[in-house]
Amino acid sequence: VLLICATTVLAYLLGSIPTAVWYGQGFFGIDIRQYGSGNAGATNTFRVLGKRAGTIVMLVDVLKGYTAAIMSTLLWYFDVITINEILTFKIVFGLVAVIGHLYPLFAKFKGGKGVATLLGMVLATHPEMAAVCIGIFLLVVIASQYVSLGSILAALAFPVLLLLQVFGQQESPLLIVFGFIMFLLVVLTHQKNISRLLRGEESRTVLIRLRKK
Ligand code: G3P
Repeated sequence: VLLICATTVLAYLLGSIPTAVWYGQGFFGIDIRQYGSGNAGATNTFRVLGKRAGTIVMLVDVLKGYTAAIMSTLLWYFDVITINEILTFKIVFGLVAVIGHLYPLFAKFKGGKGVATLLGMVLATHPEMAAVCIGIFLLVVIASQYVSLGSILAALAFPVLLLLQVFGQQESPLLIVFGFIMFLLVVLTHQKNISRLLRGEESRTVLIRLRKK
C-alpha cells in the first residue's frame, strides 16, 4: 500500500511539471499564462512562442501522462500489484498526472487543460484508440482551425470508441464510465473555449507571437 501511495504522489509530481511555464520562463523570460489564451499548455505555446516550443511542450506533456501510467507496469513487475490490476492503476496514475497538470504544485496550481497529458495516458492504455483520437483531432483542427474543438471531440471519441467496442474488445463498464468522466473533465477545462466557440470568438490556429492577453 505504501508503494502504491508513493507512486500516486510521484504521478502527481510528474504531472505537476509545468512544461509550458518553465519553457516560457527559461527560454523567453515570460510567463505564458499572461499571453494568448492564458493557458499553460502546448496549444498556447505554439500560438505565442512558435512551432518548436509548442512541439517540445506537447511532447513533454504527453510523456508525463504516459510515464505516470506505465509506472503501473513497474509495480506489477515488482509484485506490488497483480496483472489484472495493471490497467486500473494505469488509469489511476494517468488521471493523477492529469490532475497534477491542471493544478501543478510547481506553478502555483495554475496549469493547463490536460489534453496532452490525457493523450499520454490513453497511449499507455489503448494505443490504437489514441491513434484514432489523434486522427479525429487533426481532422477537426484542419477543417475548423479550432484546436479546442479538436481537443473536445477527440476526448469524446475515446469513451464512444470504448462503448462501440470498435476494436472488438470487451471493456468493463467501469472503464467506459471513466472515459466519460475524462471527457467531462476536458469539457470543464474548456469552458471558456466553449463559450468563445459559441460566440464565434475563439482564436484560430494562427501564431500570434507574444501578444499579451
Ligand atoms: O489543449 C488545449 C486546447 O484545446 C485549447 O488551448 O490555449 O486555445 O485555450 P487554448
